Amino acid sequence: MCGIVGYTGKQNVEKQILDALELLEYRGYDSAGMAIMDDLTGQIQVRKCAGRVSDLRNVWCQNLVSGRCGIGHTRWATHGGVCDENAHPHRVGRITLVHNGIIENYEALKDHFGLADQLVSETDTEVVAALLNHFYTGDPHQALVETVKWLKGTFALVVIFEDIPNVIFAIRNVSPIVAAYHKNGTMLASDVAALGGQADRYLVVPEYHVVELHQDAIQIYDMEDRLCEPEFLEIDWDTTRDGKGQYPFYMEKEIMEQPEVIEKTLSSRLVDGHLSLEADGVPDEVLKACERICVVACGTAMHAGLVAQNMVRSILRMPMDVEYASEFMYMDPVIDEKTLVLAISQSGETIDTLEALKYARRQGAKSIAVINVKGSSIARESDYVMYTAAGPEIAVASTKAYTTQLAALFVLVGRMAVVRGVFDEAAEKTFVNGLVQAPEAMQKVLDRREEIHHIARGLLEAKDAFMIGRGLDYSILLEGALKLKEISYIHTEAYASGELKHGTIALITEKTPVVALVTQERIRDKELSNIREVQSRGASVVLLVKDGIKLNQEDYDHVFMLPAMADGMMPFPASAALQLLAYYVSMDRGLDVDKPRNLAKVVTVE
Ligand code: G6P
Repeated sequence: MCGIVGYTGKQNVEKQILDALELLEYRGYDSAGMAIMDDLTGQIQVRKCAGRVSDLRNVWCQNLVSGRCGIGHTRWATHGGVCDENAHPHRVGRITLVHNGIIENYEALKDHFGLADQLVSETDTEVVAALLNHFYTGDPHQALVETVKWLKGTFALVVIFEDIPNVIFAIRNVSPIVAAYHKNGTMLASDVAALGGQADRYLVVPEYHVVELHQDAIQIYDMEDRLCEPEFLEIDWDTTRDGKGQYPFYMEKEIMEQPEVIEKTLSSRLVDGHLSLEADGVPDEVLKACERICVVACGTAMHAGLVAQNMVRSILRMPMDVEYASEFMYMDPVIDEKTLVLAISQSGETIDTLEALKYARRQGAKSIAVINVKGSSIARESDYVMYTAAGPEIAVASTKAYTTQLAALFVLVGRMAVVRGVFDEAAEKTFVNGLVQAPEAMQKVLDRREEIHHIARGLLEAKDAFMIGRGLDYSILLEGALKLKEISYIHTEAYASGELKHGTIALITEKTPVVALVTQERIRDKELSNIREVQSRGASVVLLVKDGIKLNQEDYDHVFMLPAMADGMMPFPASAALQLLAYYVSMDRGLDVDKPRNLAKVVTVE
């Protein structure tokens, strides 16, 4: 969470910073700021405000400052409300800094060092600036090392010292920082997305090392002040942004890209019609030896794990748990060397998922990460990585990352079935045939998106909504409901339809529209009965149903026929329909679909 950048070089720094911050805005967009070493006066000038990077551009335009070295920040508020004072950078004495992370002991530090009088904001970050200023007597390394010894929590700190022109310093614990040689200078940022196609190689700043960025050099020192050899990695990831194209929002563009990226995710893993994880380097032995599976993930990625759990139970007949990564360590998870842990994450940076993975590995578990962003922290921490081919996902609400996670997980489950002798050749063939139809089935839904747009109009005025289904349908709806609530702000609950009558049905009235999903032949009758129960309480019902399932269409307010696939493959077309439903409700409510309030795409605080 929070995006940080720094640039020092020969070009105008304000453009470098503002452009990079825009690329990092998906990490948080409550407020934005930058500090520039003024070319004219040599002094550090801070510009910051509550709001988006576009607001910061305006603030900067009204009070221009130009230079060649500076730092910037886009915030997702943790300590202190959203206001100009709490925006970063924070300046105390000769120190100006930006921070990503949380300093857990900031109150204690404030009291211990008597820093309160120097502070104007409510943030933990400003305490660090004051502490660094306290320790700074002219040696930046010594001050940084001394300061971080006192900090508890996670931090990526990027600092400029008023008396050290054109040099940027950084140090981190857990929260990521990457650095790169840039055209005419050097740059650092929270992640490679900010490099915007201007660098070919980058380095991940090691934890507890001091980084110095000069106009023509990047130097790294350990805590004993020894110079270290930086290890550069190729940027195997498209960091250019080709815009929204013909679409009003990235979310729509990303929904529409799904058939293509799912095919890409599958293609490298289907070799001569067989499921293969050879390109991912996952040995069959790992898939054979495990006795249980455990998913650790957050948000949408966790919902992908729930869909996979249905497959694992029905196909592999193996025990599988799906845990909120944020709860994992505190729930005494049953993990040992026979457990295969799947860490699922679009960004590969979600700190709860990262910490849960580390914990599981300490218990001896083997791990496979299912990740979108190449070279991210979770990918580096895991034994094996399966990359999804979603490509950069910009909209905060995840769509193509989710369905490509499903595609990767389905291949994994299928391959496990092969190596564990559950699938014979014919069963593998049937499974593969089903899977390769997923892109086409999704395309059929996308081609009929105006039908869903029409249905969405019925939800525009709702304050509350329910989504009901059983079994696999319920797992799919958990993600569908998350989509609707996060971008439309309609309070939406996904409910196992048979469970509704044990209390929650009290909330059903003619004002609570219900979206029902029916894709599983074997539970059709029970699902339809549950729908009747909500209709009897006055609810209008939007029915998403697999084509071919027998029912009387006139019984429902709206019916959308999903292209028929094998029951187990229905998450693909059903998810596309649910994503579009949420998208159109949000758009027609006039909301900022890509940047819903209070959210961030990458969550690097626990
Ligand atoms: C944030 C995002 C969600 C995402 C979740 C997990 O809350 O807004 O879209 O599902 O984090 O992120 P990850 O990058 O680990 O998949």
